Amino acid sequence: MSKSSEKDLFVRTPLIESLELAQYCPNRRVYLKLENCQPSGSFKMRGISRFCQQAVRENREEVISSSGGNAGLAAACSARLLGLKCHIIVPKLTTQRIIDKIAKEGADVEVFGNFWNDANEKALELVKNSPKSFYVHPFDNPILWTGHSTMIDEIVQDLDTIIPSMIVTCCGGGGLLCGIIEGMRRHNWTSVPVLAMETDGANSLNAAVLAGGQPVRLPAITSVATCLGSLIICDQLADDYRKSQPPVLSHLVNDKQAVDACIRFANEHRFLVEPACGASLAALYTGLVSKLFADSCGKYSDGPVVVIVCGGCDVTLDKLSDWKQQFNL
Ligand SMILES: Cc1ncc(COP(=O)(O)O)c(C=O)c1O
Repeated sequence: MSKSSEKDLFVRTPLIESLELAQYCPNRRVYLKLENCQPSGSFKMRGISRFCQQAVRENREEVISSSGGNAGLAAACSARLLGLKCHIIVPKLTTQRIIDKIAKEGADVEVFGNFWNDANEKALELVKNSPKSFYVHPFDNPILWTGHSTMIDEIVQDLDTIIPSMIVTCCGGGGLLCGIIEGMRRHNWTSVPVLAMETDGANSLNAAVLAGGQPVRLPAITSVATCLGSLIICDQLADDYRKSQPPVLSHLVNDKQAVDACIRFANEHRFLVEPACGASLAALYTGLVSKLFADSCGKYSDGPVVVIVCGGCDVTLDKLSDWKQQFNL
């Protein structure tokens, strides 16, 4: 493997204070970890690029992945930087804009199945028949989690000796959350709660929590937060949830609240993010975080709240404006 393919392909992202969001969280500072600034537009670049580097180490020629969104984009971007071929299978719900964006990275894009799980089965079948290929799972692999966990290393460095009172993030298949938990354990932040947000209709973690921490398969994804749209969480997340170190709090917002958060965030912070990320931001805008602190009877510290701005590319000004109309905002 060449030196350049050992070097991280993701960037160190800024941690900035948000006075606007602090208005929704009395007596605490709020920091934003700007993962939307990654080269592929989301945090996925961290874990997926590490995963693709493994393909180089194993002398594979092609990466195959199954994601109708940001994981596919991160795989295509990493493959281009590493000089690997790339084949991405996306479900039918994937927008033409994202298909074009993945193709622009030089990857072949194939549309298959209604949901990510269908596209993934097709990807696994393809990998079986091509020995020089390397399968890149979008959220369920330890290399990926360790890649994602680097965002916590950076937060720890930037906050110096300060320990947050809460980390706010969102959950799809659970790769992001597994990475965050891994990083928090590495730095002994095991009593800092992680608030994991989802939307109604993409609620695979919440369904598992209601089932006592056992993964539950949803019948369908009905939310506009399509990149949270895994029908079931990965086993590692269910295991981490049950261990509760750090404790994971699962809460839902509806699509309207997630989209509203995207619009407010765009106006206040000048960044466009997907509704998946809007779900995390909505935890502040809707007053949920503030209520959790108020109801906690002093259980949580008065440290800052850190919001993972996971990003996402499937958003434009026109799309935000369509959603604004659709949800009467
Ligand atoms: C922007 C964004 N945020 C959050 C997630 C959820 O990540 P995970 O599936 O690892 O839970 C995704 C997944 O694609 C995503 O693209």
